[in-house]
Amino acid sequence: MAYLARFWDSTIGKKIVMAVTGLIGVGFVLGHMSGNFLMFKGAEAMHEYALLLRTSMPLLYVVRAVLVLAVVLHALAAYQLTMRSRAARPEGYAKVKPQVTTFAARTIRWGGVLLLVFIVFHIAQITLGWVAVPNFVHLDPYNNLRNGLSNPLIAGFYILAMAALGLHLFHGTWAVVRTLGVARPSQHPLKRRVAVVIAVVVAVGFAVIPIAVLAGAFPEAPSPVMTEGH
Ligand code: HEM
Repeated sequence: MAYLARFWDSTIGKKIVMAVTGLIGVGFVLGHMSGNFLMFKGAEAMHEYALLLRTSMPLLYVVRAVLVLAVVLHALAAYQLTMRSRAARPEGYAKVKPQVTTFAARTIRWGGVLLLVFIVFHIAQITLGWVAVPNFVHLDPYNNLRNGLSNPLIAGFYILAMAALGLHLFHGTWAVVRTLGVARPSQHPLKRRVAVVIAVVVAVGFAVIPIAVLAGAFPEAPSPVMTEGH
């Protein structure tokens, strides 16, 4: 216990926690993005996918608990590291001339806050149906997404959040290489190929859904839940 407290208290300990929880997040995001592509197969496929995720409720709750814990630890460590770095240099620099930093690195904190706001809104909207989904039907994600994202303001918010997610992952994957020391990091932002690929694939892969909803690519479909007579 004392060892864990010492580990959490150290700067490198917090960075390792951020790296490991961040990797959990990347794993979740890649799985979630692939699942979303079932939208192109239609309402039935999305409904079956929603049921599949709920095959074992105890397991689903364990996965949810791990994800919530990962997000909380990631955000808390980020906040505490920010406070530490401010305390180390309270008056800031008179003149800032970035050396090898990138736009993604300079926006990572605000991007992270935007993502937190997005996740809370997204769950309230699409999983719980509390906000911004006309005619929400539990376990009918196809129609819920179709109805929820056909509002251009909401779809725009999703696309903005996915751009923030891409930037976050770009900087995050680069930071994780340095924290865990798995490869010699390059000084040149565009040479960080894995980071660029993950960022672009994830941002575009997710953004395709709100864009397709706005473009009218998902035809109206009878709700599989209603036709099953639940
Ligand atoms: C365009 C982007 C996205 C779309 C279309 C989308 C779609 C969905 C859908 C349809 C569900 C409901 C699944 C169900 O209730 O069966 C869902 C749940 C969820 N999404 Fe997303 N999602 C997107 C982006 C994201 C991102 C970027 C994150 C996190 C970084 C995220 C995190 C979650 C979480 C945590 C849930 C709740 C899972 C649960 O019920 O435990 N989503 N999403």
